Amino acid sequence: MNRFKAGEHEGVTWVRGIAGWSNFSIKVFLYLVDGVLIDTGPVKLSGILVPFLEQQKIETVLLTHYHEDHSGNAPYLAGREIPVYINAISLERCRVKTRLPWYRKVFWGNREAFSPYPLDEKLTTDSLTFKPVSTPGHVFDHRSFYLPDKGFFFTGDLFVTTHPQMVLNTESTPRMIEDLKTVLRYDFSTVFCGHAGIIHRGREVLQKKLDYLEDIQGKVLHLHNRGLSVSQITRKLFPGRLHLEYLSCREWSAEHMVRSLLTGKATAENPRPRT
Ligand SMILES: [Fe+2]
Repeated sequence: MNRFKAGEHEGVTWVRGIAGWSNFSIKVFLYLVDGVLIDTGPVKLSGILVPFLEQQKIETVLLTHYHEDHSGNAPYLAGREIPVYINAISLERCRVKTRLPWYRKVFWGNREAFSPYPLDEKLTTDSLTFKPVSTPGHVFDHRSFYLPDKGFFFTGDLFVTTHPQMVLNTESTPRMIEDLKTVLRYDFSTVFCGHAGIIHRGREVLQKKLDYLEDIQGKVLHLHNRGLSVSQITRKLFPGRLHLEYLSCREWSAEHMVRSLLTGKATAENPRPRT
C-alpha cells in the first residue's frame, strides 16, 4: 500500500499518510489552503510528510486539537518559524514532550515540546476567513474550522466514522451529539476529516452520525432505567470486543460511550499531561 498520496480539491491541497503497526493501519489527512496548514500528522509519518511540507508555502498552522496524530510534526513547523495556533487551553500541554501509552507511542510516536500561540478568534488570510468552532466532544480542546467563503468544514476528529463502536476515554458522546448539532447549523457542503478524508456529502454523513449516536443514547437511557449497570448495557449494545480495546488497555472502549451518556462527562475528563 502506498503510504503517501497528495492531491488538490477546489483550492485545498490534501495529503494522506498511512500509519501502520501489526494488522492495524489508519489514514491521516492534512490540508493546506491559502497558506494555512490544518493539522500536521504524527511523528511516525514525518519521514514521508516533512519532505512534502518542505516544498509547500506554509504561513500558518492551525491544530484542531492536541492529540499526537494531529500535532506530531508541529514542533518541526514551529522550528521553521511558522506560527502554530491551537486552543488556548492546550498551550501548556504542548510545551512538554508527550509520554504516550506504549501502543500510541508505537503507532504515532511521541511529540516533542513546542510553543504554539492561542487562537480564539477567527484567522483571516488575503482571501479566506477561518472560523474556529468549539467541538469538544472528542476531547476538551477540539475545534473544527469553518470556511464560510467556500462552504468547507475542517472537522479534525469530529466525524471519522458514522457508526463508532468504541471511543477514546477523552470523548463524551453527549457532547459529540451537541457538536454535530452545532456544526449542522452552519451553511456548508464539504467536510475535510482528519482520518476519513474529503467527504463531498458532508452534511449527510454528519447527520447520519448524529442519528446513530442519538439512537444509542435512547437505548442506553432505556436500559439504565431498567436497572442495568454500565458494563451490562455495554455488553448488550456492543457485544463484540474489538482488538483495539485490549491493545489499548481499554483507553479505547465502548464502555466510554455508555458511561459518558449516563454521566455527561468523558471517562478521562481533561487528562493532565504526563510528565
Ligand atoms: Fe484525536
